[in-house]
Amino acid sequence: MSLSFDTYEEISGAQIEAALDFGESQILNDLPQFTDKFQKAYSENGFYEPIDNNYWTTGFWTGEVWLAYEYALAKKKDADAEKLRHTGMVHVDSFYERITKKIEVDHHDMGFLYSPSCVAAYKLTGDKKAREAAILAADQLLTRYHPVGEFLQAWGPMDGADNYRLIIDCLLNLPLLYWASEETGDEKYRTIAEKHIHTAVANVIREDYSTWHTFFFDPETGAPDHGATCQGYRDGSAWARGQAWGIYGMALAYRYTGRTEYIEIFKKVTEYFLEHLPKDLVPFWDLEFTDGDDQPRDSSSASIAVCGMLEMSRYLEADDAAYYISLAKKLLKSVCDNYAVKDSKSSNGLVLHSTYSNHSPYNTCNHYGVDECNSWGDYFYMEALMRLYTDWNEYW
Ligand code: GLY
Repeated sequence: MSLSFDTYEEISGAQIEAALDFGESQILNDLPQFTDKFQKAYSENGFYEPIDNNYWTTGFWTGEVWLAYEYALAKKKDADAEKLRHTGMVHVDSFYERITKKIEVDHHDMGFLYSPSCVAAYKLTGDKKAREAAILAADQLLTRYHPVGEFLQAWGPMDGADNYRLIIDCLLNLPLLYWASEETGDEKYRTIAEKHIHTAVANVIREDYSTWHTFFFDPETGAPDHGATCQGYRDGSAWARGQAWGIYGMALAYRYTGRTEYIEIFKKVTEYFLEHLPKDLVPFWDLEFTDGDDQPRDSSSASIAVCGMLEMSRYLEADDAAYYISLAKKLLKSVCDNYAVKDSKSSNGLVLHSTYSNHSPYNTCNHYGVDECNSWGDYFYMEALMRLYTDWNEYW
């Protein structure tokens, strides 16, 4: 069912500021527990447990700390900003140690880890250790590249047919490579990012502009082989977060390559997402499901899509830009009204009803983080609010 968006209200400036005030206070309250530790990928009954810096998601919590730091500075709350900066810099040390000791870095998520943590820290404070850590992470990401097939392999050892695939999420890991080329003057990072984007766009986007979560290639020839899901409901469906990564990923792909054909793809991938939203504009975990289905939501997908629309609006003609900004404000209002945490006694996160990994009879993923807060859901919600609050300088 296709919705008409005309009747929905946009989030107001006052609501954005109130949401940021609550977000900042929630993040400040979390600092004692999550400075020497990180938030787990997902909450349990609304509460995150502390973990070491050894999972693909820890950069999101640090990113939230930096976003809250920026907000505190904007509001001239210097004491808050100092507490947040302190935690952000403790995390830089941790991310530096992680990459130099190569702790759990044999996968492609170097961008998710190092863009919102160390690239952010470097952009905001000029810290040299943060810069070095992020460049080492970009080098690590290059080790995932397969010249045969021209893509960055997502998961697993590099020498087996069963792992010879990319996943749509990786589009968000590529800004780290572009940033590394800009910082070092070495084109090798950009060259590989560009090859991966080309391969990804050619294969993960289906004819109807829904998307594959993952796509396999022939290890001998590099020829495209087949699409498959991991976290979606079934192979041929559109996993909501994969589609949202596609929206934000295409906006970033356009920003970095300037290829005008990516604008059209962005619009079509976004249209597919919007056409499959339920009435409250926050998707179920797979776009196969809609109102009336007894299935969990993935509120994180709404926030990611909002960030992607706001990113793309920076490069579009005025009318198109206004269209996506308005849609973004409508989706974000629903996240804020209906999904955001309102009381720190009920959760130490920011946004409820997100889904990490929902096992189905037809997919290959584990079952965890279903209908909970997810670390990236909280991060992209804060990013979306900051994008609307100020002329935010991206970490990506
Ligand atoms: N990148 C993995 C996920 O979105 O769950």
